[in-house]
Amino acid sequence: MVNADLLIVGSGFFGLTIAERAAEHGQKVVVIDRRSHLGGNAYSEFEPETGIEVHRYGAHLFHTSNERVWEYVNRFTAFTSYVHRVYTVHKGEVYPLPINLGTVNQFFRSAHSPDQARALLAEQAGEFESGSASNLEEKGISLIGRPLYEAFIRDYTAKQWQTSPTELPPEIISRLPVRYTYDNRYFNDTHEGLPVDGYTAWLERMADHPNIEVRLDTDFFDDSHDASKAATLGKLPIVYTGPVDRYFDYSEGHLSWRTLDFEEEVLPVGDFQGTSVMNYADSDAAYTRIHEFKHFHPERDSPKDKTVVMREFSRFAEGDDEPYYPVNTPEDREMLLAYRQRIEGEPQVLFGGRLGTYQYLDMHMAIGSALSMFDNQLPELIPALNDVT
Ligand code: FAD
Ligand code: NA
Repeated sequence: MVNADLLIVGSGFFGLTIAERAAEHGQKVVVIDRRSHLGGNAYSEFEPETGIEVHRYGAHLFHTSNERVWEYVNRFTAFTSYVHRVYTVHKGEVYPLPINLGTVNQFFRSAHSPDQARALLAEQAGEFESGSASNLEEKGISLIGRPLYEAFIRDYTAKQWQTSPTELPPEIISRLPVRYTYDNRYFNDTHEGLPVDGYTAWLERMADHPNIEVRLDTDFFDDSHDASKAATLGKLPIVYTGPVDRYFDYSEGHLSWRTLDFEEEVLPVGDFQGTSVMNYADSDAAYTRIHEFKHFHPERDSPKDKTVVMREFSRFAEGDDEPYYPVNTPEDREMLLAYRQRIEGEPQVLFGGRLGTYQYLDMHMAIGSALSMFDNQLPELIPALNDVT
């Protein structure tokens, strides 16, 4: 039996935020993770040959407009002044994203003013009514017109879903924001930056507390250890951040996810692409984008003759694949409601995080929702927390 006040399943940002808050409020916490490292999908490591920080589960950019979250995360790390920008290759030319006045004018070889560009796109979008679109392709055309849709959305979307947009439901996109300025800053949030000494150092500082014990390589559903579901259920409050369908043995079915495959390579050049993220809009490249990690930290010393790149491929998850993005079909949403019903029968367990709620959450959202759970739900399970908060 685990000797603690709280068991947390999963050491990602959600689990570690709960752990840190509970520990600071005098509670003894055990955090388990089935992986051999802490930190969940935000985990990063320094590639040994080059010393360049690589985000193991895909590039992670921190950004938030939530002042409470910003104050909280700054207790564990300082942030660089990195500002994220993304470019895309289409037919041998590089364009800025998200689609903005620069993209539009480069694409049409024009010098439109904002109003002229608006009028042009409105005219081209007139081909379909948004409301009557029967598939993603018609929806895309109804929003930005056929030329821009075919250049920047069609093939990229087909690569993301391994499905032709004519066979994807229109609901996947609700809007395709076009900026009628030359601003190509990717995020609009008040605060943005990367952790000065890396994600893993930040995550480790959150867990560095005498009241917190982290046990790695420990799967909640493996009955052979004392922090397992069998050994702890009903005896200890639990915050569970693993997949909700797995918790209930898939009794209501398997929720569907997209996963990513990454191909990492050290190249013998000082600078491969001149920027951190380059998308590939066309079908001739099988990958959706290439990350070049040294550009996330221009302030660091890195080798002048070597660089680390990572190609990203996207597909539907199956079997043991890592679940990354909820697909969210109508069947998934129905299944999720059934699982929410079953959650009500587990009063000792709180479900949180992106896997536990089947929701895409940015880091600041995972941290913000964990802070709310700590304030509003955890005191019901741990009465001692009522005395201190
Ligand atoms: P996770 O980080 O997934 O942590 C869950 C943990 O639970 C994992 O460590 C897992 O091993 C563990 N676990 C699961 N099942 C069990 C079990 N049975 N027993 C024990 N442990 C278990 N956010 C941003 O803000 N900016 C970005 O740029 C960004 N980019 C992203 C790119 C990709 C490709 C992905 C997938 C996500 C990105 N995110 C980004 C989101 C970010 O990764 C999440 O916000 C964050 O991971 C959420 O934390 P979490 O604790 O909910 O989940
Ligand atoms: Na991202």
